[in-house]
Amino acid sequence: THKIILDTDPGIDDAMAIFFAFQSPDIEVLGLTTVYGNVPVTMSARNARTLCDFAGQDIPVTQGVGMPWVGPESTYAHFVHGDDGFGNIGFPASDTPLDPRSSAQFIVDMARQHPGEITLVAIGPLGNLALALRLEPNLPKLVKGVAIMGGAAFVPGNVTPVAEANIWNDAHAAEIVFGADWDLTMFGLDVTNAVPFTPDFLDTLAEKNPKLGGFVKESAQFYMDFYSQNRDDRVCFFHDAMPLAWLIKPELFRLTRGHARVATDPLNRGQTMVAPEGTTASPLWLEAQQINVATDVDHDALRELYISTYGL
Ligand code: BDR
Ligand code: CA
Repeated sequence: THKIILDTDPGIDDAMAIFFAFQSPDIEVLGLTTVYGNVPVTMSARNARTLCDFAGQDIPVTQGVGMPWVGPESTYAHFVHGDDGFGNIGFPASDTPLDPRSSAQFIVDMARQHPGEITLVAIGPLGNLALALRLEPNLPKLVKGVAIMGGAAFVPGNVTPVAEANIWNDAHAAEIVFGADWDLTMFGLDVTNAVPFTPDFLDTLAEKNPKLGGFVKESAQFYMDFYSQNRDDRVCFFHDAMPLAWLIKPELFRLTRGHARVATDPLNRGQTMVAPEGTTASPLWLEAQQINVATDVDHDALRELYISTYGL
């Protein structure tokens, strides 16, 4: 099994990913660390705690950074995820206390306790991982690897023509995380936007798992309304579950390796630029860290993995 810390900003697709991780026998979630993003960080932490309690998971949940590394407080994605982050379904929040540590401190503590064993799976903006790198410069040697949902390497962005939301939200933090000397694998819009999910998928999740799948189906109605605005069919995208699917079944994915940087200047803020090996001669780029970028996924097998795992 993969020991993970899931860094998240719930969020509807975050909720779907969190339950997927809980359901999978191949994944052991040591804790949820939260960050601002879809919603403010206090709500993000409360939502993560609520999801754990609902799923009967007695694991630590921490609150993390509430602002970008540089610049003013962010705007949130209530228009995508609802006022409550769960599609305005009026779900009651739990009052279980959070773990008192910051998300970054929790990541560092766990990495020291389980050296070389933990994969950090980040499905929100990257402030907690950047801060953890500052708290413990040796962190890359203490974790097994990092898998993120974020970025858009070879396809357009979803916030600007070049930037995906998680990276755009905290581009400076992302540049720190991309630049660290660890094994980082990026699941960006290149793969996540390639797999639309239709209402019958949600029906099946809810059938297989009335409790957790039912929650996803209900909360995802608002999310589908958002994604269906400018198209003829009714769909949504479960971005955040992808890095988890890769941990469980890497053979479903095609990856490419390249030197990567994140733009932090205003115009192309949050752009994830990737030069596949052998495609650049610029010394500046050759010095950039190499990462793995997911470029393709087996759509049918991915859907089947979600459904069978929810059904366990
Ligand atoms: C990412 O942004 C958030 O809205 C989603 O939860 C996902 O992590 C997609 O761009
Ligand atoms: Ca997210």
